[in-house]
Amino acid sequence: MAQAKTKSRAKTGAAKKQSARKPVAAKKTAPKPKAKAKAKEDKKGSLLEEFFMDSLKDIYWAEKALTKALPKMSKSATSPQLKEALDNHLEETLGQIERLEKVFEMMGKKAQGKKCEAMQGLVEEGEEIMAETKDDSSTRDAALIIAAQKVEHYEIATYGGLVQLAKTMNNSKVANVLASILSEEKKADELLTRIAEQGGVNEEASEEEGEKSGSVKDSILSVFSK
Ligand SMILES: [Fe+2]
Ligand SMILES: [Fe+2]
Repeated sequence: MAQAKTKSRAKTGAAKKQSARKPVAAKKTAPKPKAKAKAKEDKKGSLLEEFFMDSLKDIYWAEKALTKALPKMSKSATSPQLKEALDNHLEETLGQIERLEKVFEMMGKKAQGKKCEAMQGLVEEGEEIMAETKDDSSTRDAALIIAAQKVEHYEIATYGGLVQLAKTMNNSKVANVLASILSEEKKADELLTRIAEQGGVNEEASEEEGEKSGSVKDSILSVFSK
């Protein structure tokens, strides 16, 4: 009997409590979708960071590969302006590698490269140009400029994307470092265009004759006439 009384009192009490808590209970359940969204956001953030780190490793490898390719390109170039531009960009590239290492550090990760197939292909294309064009020819210079610009455009696309990702992750310090590299790549690209056009490389190449250089010359002219 006593047990039944307690049970019934408890039931009544619970019922009272429930009715009294109704509005509170409604408030408590309301933030649930927000919490779910937050968890989803966090997950999204970490996946984005993972992709960012992957891209960073890719460009770190690419820049290191360029420190080997740029001296070869400079050595095989004829135009003093082009040689100087490639040599200066090698110096810049060494500085960029240091800044990338700083970015790894800022992200709390160890600097590490991952083979970049795209850059590998572009470097190989540059090597082919050096092998297939005549020594001391402006045609080779014009072709080298295009090969170097393909590299710059790849870098511009990569750093442009990385700057945006860093901003999305609210990491303005990392975004600023990457933006400084992006700016150097853009300037290097513009300088190469000036050397080809105002520097007279393309014009001189158009006057050169020869079976082998002729075919490269034609392709160069078709690119620049667009
Ligand atoms: Fe670079
Ligand atoms: Fe570059």
